[in-house]
Amino acid sequence: MAALGTLLAAALLRIWIIEPMRRSVQRHDADEANFSKLFELSPLPMVYTSATDDYTSFHRNDAWFNAFGYPREGSSTRSATELGMWVNPEDADEMRRRTMLQQPISNWAVELICADQSRRWFSFFGRFTVGPDRVTMISTLIDITEQRQAQQDVLDLNTQLEDRVDERTRQLQAANHELSQALISLRQAQDHLVQSEKLAALGALVAGVAHELNTPIGNGLTVASSLLDKTRDFALAANAPLQRSVLAQFVTDSVLAADILVRNLSRAATLVSSFKQVAVDRTSSQRRAFELYELLDEVVLTLNPAIRRSLCEVQSQIAPGLRLDSYPGPLGQVLTNLIDNALVHGFAPSQSGRVDISASSIGANEVEISVRDNGRGIDASHLKRVFDPFFTTRLGQGGSGLGLHIVHNIVTGVLGGRVDVHSPAGGGAQFVLRLPLIAPKWPDLPDEDDNW
Ligand SMILES: Nc1ncnc2c1ncn2[C@@H]1O[C@H](COP(=O)(O)OP(=O)(O)OP(=O)(O)O)[C@@H](O)[C@H]1O
Ligand SMILES: [Mg+2]
Repeated sequence: MAALGTLLAAALLRIWIIEPMRRSVQRHDADEANFSKLFELSPLPMVYTSATDDYTSFHRNDAWFNAFGYPREGSSTRSATELGMWVNPEDADEMRRRTMLQQPISNWAVELICADQSRRWFSFFGRFTVGPDRVTMISTLIDITEQRQAQQDVLDLNTQLEDRVDERTRQLQAANHELSQALISLRQAQDHLVQSEKLAALGALVAGVAHELNTPIGNGLTVASSLLDKTRDFALAANAPLQRSVLAQFVTDSVLAADILVRNLSRAATLVSSFKQVAVDRTSSQRRAFELYELLDEVVLTLNPAIRRSLCEVQSQIAPGLRLDSYPGPLGQVLTNLIDNALVHGFAPSQSGRVDISASSIGANEVEISVRDNGRGIDASHLKRVFDPFFTTRLGQGGSGLGLHIVHNIVTGVLGGRVDVHSPAGGGAQFVLRLPLIAPKWPDLPDEDDNW
């Protein structure tokens, strides 16, 4: 009976304890084998390290040996330090520290040395499992050498780009500096040119004045010295009894000489007064507000004798309401010159024609005045020269060539505007003035209220 009891107990022990334990061990072995297979098949380099023996037992998978180029034999039991894989010894220390603390490691970039001594960068991941008898760490390495190289390339490229931008900026600054230097020299050259042009114009004016005055004064001098000779002869002759015929001759000669003298001196006086007008004396010009059409009526009225002598009709089409705050005196002089020129130069003495004067406002601040005739017009080659001093096509016939020069001076000076000349294909000449409705104030002059 006792033996039966023992047999039953042994059978029960076998069914309930030993058999389940044996199956559990078998399952465990199968799991481990499975895990080991998966570990070996991983395409990423992996290391499985046990901490029971100070992390000296480790397993590396095929991908690891492929990545680092070490043979399984001879190196599978040697640690990374023993294989001399750490580029930076501090990384080995850091690895040891983290392992001791069992801190998970994520994306830790380390540089390692392969079997062929080439260096590669890896991103290191490590995880720990703590069991009853041991701590296990499984780590994975991802090769990031190419990625880091690409990053470095981008950084290098950036630096190169920055260097290039810096270089370009420097070049641009240098070019800019050169340009501003060139501009300064250009301005200086321009100033010199303006200065020399002014001097040349002054020279031409002085030469012209001398030339123009030379004829009447020279004529006057010749006649005066001949009169002096004749008077001396007459004085000598007068010591003896005088013949009537001698006296008559002396009187005739004296009258003729005086006549020539008066004519030449008047010509000289006229020229001098013209020259005076060239430099328009602003101080003698009254500034005031006036109606343009009224001023034109006055001008036409004063020119009436000349207009009547010609066969021309002068038409003014200026509507009331165009008011200017300007210098009516100089503006009147400008219009007189232009109309007079049209009558004198536009038409032959027996030719009939028209002179039209019109005006219209341009915007709120300017007025355009046109003086146009339908006469012979101005030769294209003369158009650029008509405003030059002493340019005239009536030399020796009363023309001094100063009229339009005075016009130009007044318009661009005291009136603050501009004047243009056209000789349209249809014939005739046209002068266009563009003037501000309010003439500029001249800082060097007293105001109109000061009665200047
Ligand atoms: N309306 C015009 N038609 C044709 N030619 C003109 C006209 N106005 C001016 N000119 C030309 O321009 C030249 C210069 O005119 P400007 O008034 O300066 O001198 P001028 O009339 O000859 O002499 P000044 O006016 O000094 O007596 C004239 O000689 C003439 O050739
Ligand atoms: Mg003239």
